[in-house]
Amino acid sequence: MQNYKAILEEIYTDGINAIDKGTVASYIPELAHIDKNNFGIHLKTIDGIEYGVGDFNTPFSIQSISKVLALSKAMALIGESVWERVDVEPSGHPFNQLALLELENGIPRNPLINSGAIVIADILLTHLKNPKEDFLNYVRELTGDTNINYNLEVAQSEKNTGYKNFAAANLLKSFKNLTNPVDAVLEFYFHQCSLEMTCAQVSNAFFFLANKGYCLTNTAHLTKTQAKRINAIMLTCGFYDEAGEFAFEVGLPGKSGVGGGIVALLPDNYVITTWSPGLNKKGNSKLGMLALEQFTTKTKLSIF
Ligand code: DON
Repeated sequence: MQNYKAILEEIYTDGINAIDKGTVASYIPELAHIDKNNFGIHLKTIDGIEYGVGDFNTPFSIQSISKVLALSKAMALIGESVWERVDVEPSGHPFNQLALLELENGIPRNPLINSGAIVIADILLTHLKNPKEDFLNYVRELTGDTNINYNLEVAQSEKNTGYKNFAAANLLKSFKNLTNPVDAVLEFYFHQCSLEMTCAQVSNAFFFLANKGYCLTNTAHLTKTQAKRINAIMLTCGFYDEAGEFAFEVGLPGKSGVGGGIVALLPDNYVITTWSPGLNKKGNSKLGMLALEQFTTKTKLSIF
């Protein structure tokens, strides 16, 4: 039996005492004033064990973590046809890089880089009746928590400065890989990214991916095969040009966001979420990566 409580407390203490906590993202102005001393970790096992340390109950901007939930919803809605419009290969480039998109004729490398996530947002816009409301309800259903909301200031702040996302969406449109108008797709995408959740809520939302597609209330949201595919994409693409490093250090499928969150999971075993707003040079939470490396090393619970 693992002593999760002691392990999480040890990792937390190391984290809060770290001298270099990385740099808070500022390209979305509304995120720039988050205190980088926030640090939380939350673990939930498939067997029902749950522990949190530090700021695990403080809501933060989940940003790119939302891309996995959007992809899950798109797969639940249209299944394998998602792959006609977006590939499943790691890009080896930053999340907002555009050169490959042009070279590869408007087919994004994967659904977790920004251009790929914008295609997924387009799919949701086409297939959901009230896209923003329905997507929010989907996340609330997965977690069983109606307190989850978009942060409208964050969404607006990203819209005001989201030049690269406008460029990506226009490029996609020029290659006929967007069905809806650019503005409508980005309006949805910026809201999706602005979702605010706590570490505990993120662990709960991702529970179904560790549990063969079944969420906390035992409702099937995806098939086992679909959950496998999403986990594979998180493993190979969840950390952009740092995906290799994350697999090397941590050994779990996972996803980061520029709000400083990281969620990672071991199928059939557990989900763990960390939040520390300071990022490393590749845009992933500095302490979050260190914490998860320590967690899988101390517990010896990783996929490798
Ligand atoms: O589109 C963007 O740039 C942000 N809304 C999300 C980027 C992000 O979280 C990248 N992850 N580390």
